[in-house]
Amino acid sequence: MKKASVSLNFKSRISDIDNRIYGSFIEHLGRAVYEGIYQPGNRNSDSDGFRTDVLELVKKLNVPIVRYPGGNFVSGYNWEDGVGPKDKRPVKLDLAWFTTETNEFGMQEFDAWLKKAGAEMMMAVNLGTRGPDEARNLLEYANFPGGTYWSDLRKAHGHEKPYGIRTWCLGNEMDGPWQMGHKTAYEYARTATETARLMKWIDPSIELVACGSSNFNMPTFGEWEHTVLREAYELIDYVSMHEYYSNDYDDTPSFLAENIGMDRFIKAVVAICDMVKAEKKTDKTINISFDEWNVWYHSKSSDKLVGLWGRAPHRLEDVYNFEDALLVGGLLITLLKNSDRVKIACLAQLVNVIAPIMSNDEKAWAQTIFYPFLHASSFGRGTALNVDVQCDTYDCRKYKGVPFVDSVAVRNDEKRELTVFILNRSLDDDVTVSMDFSENVKPIEHIYMSEYGLKDVNTAEKADVVPSSKELKADSVVLDKASWNVLRYNY
Ligand code: AHR
Repeated sequence: MKKASVSLNFKSRISDIDNRIYGSFIEHLGRAVYEGIYQPGNRNSDSDGFRTDVLELVKKLNVPIVRYPGGNFVSGYNWEDGVGPKDKRPVKLDLAWFTTETNEFGMQEFDAWLKKAGAEMMMAVNLGTRGPDEARNLLEYANFPGGTYWSDLRKAHGHEKPYGIRTWCLGNEMDGPWQMGHKTAYEYARTATETARLMKWIDPSIELVACGSSNFNMPTFGEWEHTVLREAYELIDYVSMHEYYSNDYDDTPSFLAENIGMDRFIKAVVAICDMVKAEKKTDKTINISFDEWNVWYHSKSSDKLVGLWGRAPHRLEDVYNFEDALLVGGLLITLLKNSDRVKIACLAQLVNVIAPIMSNDEKAWAQTIFYPFLHASSFGRGTALNVDVQCDTYDCRKYKGVPFVDSVAVRNDEKRELTVFILNRSLDDDVTVSMDFSENVKPIEHIYMSEYGLKDVNTAEKADVVPSSKELKADSVVLDKASWNVLRYNY
């Protein structure tokens, strides 16, 4: 048994949390849209063709915002193909995922689905094969009240009121050579700036996310952000970050420390934002939209066998195990620790494609990673607080001095609830933690996920990896080895 101590000062504030940090992502990819959220004729679907069993799970996660329609897909997408009468919509090839896109589902259907899910849309515009003109037309269609060609077309399509989409992504991963319309940093910076200018002229209330690097290891990382920010600083509000984590080498101590890598990446992007802020001598601060994050690697070999041009193929269908859930908990801790600058984050993705929720023709179910996200989204709203953790550390292949115990807390003054999220990375030892709070607390419960095999998974047939709850004391807690813990108190 190891020992650790946690000391928590209610006044040690990181930031008020923007609820959009619990966002997610639906791309026209694999079975995310078709057979995922939309499957007309299925016995679990409603009259709009939306899977109600999937919706129930999405509602549990309480995602406030969902990014759409891509991802790589958006860089070849003509948004006009997905609006208006369905029988007039064209069937086209999607060169991002080498599938056939029927366009039966577009922004009208997504908006109707979001209303049922209780979330808002985060819309991406195509800056790959298209540019400022199509982006401004889409914004006019979506947000302008009426009396113009595009806004009246929206009305003719049965949507009298503007959609009022407030958060927009200026393309997707434009630094990536795999991207349709891939650009150099300067090419993208200019296109994004001119697109942003037109969009803010039409609707100054919108918020814009410019593409940062596709991941920390991109050869252009740093210079890319610097170039984009120098051009677009005055017109944008966020720079995007994307990162996926994997345990390719079956090295769990390194894998469970990957949120340290996420933390370094965030701090590096924040430093570049603030460098440009200093260069420009401005008061304006650019924040982070970490709009793609998750574990992604389980499906990579089976995806190589997927044929060309299918409709809704099984692609990126990672089956998540218990250690993935532990890391997702750790990644959520890191996002909350950086909530002073990370204002939007999207778990990528939501259904069937690298997702917490899976479906087949019969049912929908929760993967292991569903649960830490559920806990953070349910109990992690309010003010993020620093937690001072004293504990042993370990060295691994990728990182040195990794603390066995990682933690952040959230204070909710409305509910008078305090939640401490704690990951125990030790694969061998339980840890007894002495807890010291600056104010009196009354324990509610200790939710935990532990005692599973690291490779245990949930499937359609069996929900093996689920959280449990037990009693909690105010002054100490035992964290099982390899465990995700949610300590809930009143104050
Ligand atoms: O989420 C899957 C893909 O990962 C997205 O389409 C792309 O943006 C990223 O590379």
